[in-house]
Amino acid sequence: MYDGDIASVLITEQQINDKVTELAKQVDEDYQDAGGDLLLVGVLKGAVMFMTDFARALPQPAQLEFMAVSSYGSSTSSSGVVRILKDLDRDIANRHVLIVEDIIDSGLTLSWLLKNLSSRNPASLEVCTLLRKPDAVQVDVPVKYVGFDIPNEFVVGYGLDYAERYRDLPYIGTLDPKVYTSGV
Ligand code: PRP
Ligand code: MN
Ligand code: MG
Repeated sequence: MYDGDIASVLITEQQINDKVTELAKQVDEDYQDAGGDLLLVGVLKGAVMFMTDFARALPQPAQLEFMAVSSYGSSTSSSGVVRILKDLDRDIANRHVLIVEDIIDSGLTLSWLLKNLSSRNPASLEVCTLLRKPDAVQVDVPVKYVGFDIPNEFVVGYGLDYAERYRDLPYIGTLDPKVYTSGV
């Protein structure tokens, strides 16, 4: 699949699986007192694969909600201004909310999302991200659960896209630069 576009496999399907199980166990322990009131908020579209695997690996019941957001403004420097494309369907007041993200890059999306959701008065609000790029962070975001810290390279797969492609890869790989330097 996508022959020649992937320069290297950064995280294998098995490594993702193991990490999802580990994160789910950790979250389960931390939310023992939540009384089955855990609400997962997945950020479309990138978090879709992680969200569905994570929810199924979680030993306790959780409800699933989705939000779609989009950064806009100059494409070279993200302004941190985010627009809601799809909002939550329900009120999250007094709920234990866990945001599920695929990756924290600059941190701008999540920083905005945390402010937005905390203004809705949840009982608690935390973040679980599969990937984080420590060298790309522009705003520090408090993140309780991190799967992997990865180098500042362009990665795709397992929900992560380049121009809407590669989300369906079952692993996370680095993109061959020829893909984004040719023919644009
Ligand atoms: C990607 C990724 C995160 C965000 C991280 O989403 O899925 O949501 O960017 O970047 P940041 O930390 O610099 O804000 P994107 O906006 O590409 O939308 P998508 O999830 O639909 O691919
Ligand atoms: Mn996203
Ligand atoms: Mg994207």
